[in-house]
Amino acid sequence: RMVKESTDLTTLEHQLKSRLGLNQIKIVPGDADSSPETKQLLGKEAAIIFHEQIKDQSIVDVTGGSTMAMVANYMKPLEKKRPLFIPARGGLGDLHEYQANSICVKMAQETNGDYRLLHVPDEMGPDLKEKMLEQPGVKEIVSLMEQADVLIHGVGDALAMANRRKANEATKEKLKSSKAVGEAFGYYFDKNGNVIDRVDTIGISAELVKNIPSLITVAGGSSKKEAVAAFLRWIPSGWLIIDEAVARYLIEQL
Ligand code: G3H
Repeated sequence: RMVKESTDLTTLEHQLKSRLGLNQIKIVPGDADSSPETKQLLGKEAAIIFHEQIKDQSIVDVTGGSTMAMVANYMKPLEKKRPLFIPARGGLGDLHEYQANSICVKMAQETNGDYRLLHVPDEMGPDLKEKMLEQPGVKEIVSLMEQADVLIHGVGDALAMANRRKANEATKEKLKSSKAVGEAFGYYFDKNGNVIDRVDTIGISAELVKNIPSLITVAGGSSKKEAVAAFLRWIPSGWLIIDEAVARYLIEQL
């Protein structure tokens, strides 16, 4: 059964890859919502792809979340390459180990790389954002963020992420009424991949994401299947690491 299952997933990878036009897709067995092992496999496979993609002195933008934390666990020491990890966004009202800042530290430790920290809240409004962008320390991080050649990030369900961010009621209402299904690097989007809202913070922009040489998207769990399908309608490029639960939905939908 194991052999049959793995050929089955390989076939699914080929089908999805040719349909979506991505660089590469890796599907791990199971459903990350219910299986810790599946979540570990996502992290492991994403770390392998990360190691294939980075070059000497790569600048790597990193988002937060439990999936990215898992990827960090599987990164390996590098001899000379010394990647520089930059948080792709500010802090979130979430567990410390799921903050982009914390994940950058962990990834740098695992790979013998370097990191910078971004000390800004995730949601701050336009006035404060303008002021923050004038600060030399913040300017430096933003400039490095814009020079990245790799972005590694997670995707979340829109309302789950709004709750984790402790978004206000008005934002949640907007997301509901405009039928947002997914969230990635601070953008909320609907099932057709149209952007509904963006968290007002310092962070990577969609324009930048679309031009980054190596975009690595990692997401699993049946609760995220609509979010991932929508994300791929919005930005169908790069390297994708998903689980079987998401893959079986994508093949029906896309
Ligand atoms: O933007 C998406 C979230 O960071 C995903 O978080 O990996 O904990 O589901 P998660």
